[in-house]
Amino acid sequence: MSKDVTGKGEAVVSTVSAERPEATAPVLSMRGVSKHFGAVAALTDIDLDVHAGEVVALVGDNGAGKSTLVKILAGVHPQDTGTVNFDGKDVTIHTPVDSIQLGIATVFQDLALCDNLSVVDNLFLGRELGPWRLNEVEMEVQSWKLLRQLSAKIPSVRIAVASLSGGQRQTVAIARSLLGSPKLIILDEPTAALGVAQTAEVLNLVERLRENGLAVIMISHNMQDVKAVADRVAVLRLGKNNGTFRMKEVSTDELIAAITGATDNVVTQRAAQTGAAAAANAAGTAGTVGGADRLDGPGGGSLPPGQAPGSPGQPGSGPAPEEGAAP
Ligand SMILES: Nc1ncnc2c1ncn2[C@@H]1O[C@H](COP(=O)(O)OP(=O)(O)OP(=O)(O)O)[C@@H](O)[C@H]1O
Ligand SMILES: [Mg+2]
Repeated sequence: MSKDVTGKGEAVVSTVSAERPEATAPVLSMRGVSKHFGAVAALTDIDLDVHAGEVVALVGDNGAGKSTLVKILAGVHPQDTGTVNFDGKDVTIHTPVDSIQLGIATVFQDLALCDNLSVVDNLFLGRELGPWRLNEVEMEVQSWKLLRQLSAKIPSVRIAVASLSGGQRQTVAIARSLLGSPKLIILDEPTAALGVAQTAEVLNLVERLRENGLAVIMISHNMQDVKAVADRVAVLRLGKNNGTFRMKEVSTDELIAAITGATDNVVTQRAAQTGAAAAANAAGTAGTVGGADRLDGPGGGSLPPGQAPGSPGQPGSGPAPEEGAAP
């Protein structure tokens, strides 16, 4: 597979080991997962499967429930109902330690790196090698090995993280999460704050993770990034599943329509185009969580080009604000 992830015509070549990772049993399988915060239904009856060697993008507008889903897997919040099956076993994730011990690594958006410490110190923070005397040499060797596996472009493992670029910092955070040999890695908006070249670097890294057989969940608001690396994309809308799509079979317009809810018939599509949908949404779905109407893949035809509200790169910027969706 060859993809232009830079938008500048630079081809990035990857070899996906399994053409259809879905053919194998999923590493992660969530069924009927719901989560309320008081009166707010953050997630309702969510199903999600992720397989080894597969990148699943988790997309949705602000307040759709993406972070809540991730926090359930990371052991930050318990779910109210539903099951989580990981690596073939039903599991209950009470704490972040439970999550890590299962083999789930979560890289949160703020990365939680220590700016004043070096790359190697950040990688081994809290799990330094050599209990009595730090084995600096071995830690440095292992750091290089890990970074080389990821084809990371880090100038030195002894420089402070503060002097790295955004993409390099993201790389260090991802590398750190890999030290526990996880089976699933969750990346929350890994390219949100990055420029074009750094984004390409991080997307390359995501492809390396897949090649190494990891299951990857990537949250993103950027459809170009999603299209560049994801095998499948799961859309959340107002806390519900609103379609799971194989990336090869879905257009950006269809994805944006699933995200914004401008999906179902020609009338809604036309209304969305003229901006009338924004008003209809505001009047019709006030106070509800779950205006989502489609629980499966792309049933209908694709929208004509330019149909969906919001620019392709910025699905969250569409003109149709959603009730109950304020962060
Ligand atoms: N700790 C909390 N307490 C109360 N409500 C919460 C809490 N966390 C999330 N919510 C609510 O749950 C819903 C889903 O929020 P969540 O943060 O999961 O959305 P998101 O898809 O990650 O959005 P964004 O793209 O803005 O990050 C929102 O309505 C939010 O206000
Ligand atoms: Mg979020």
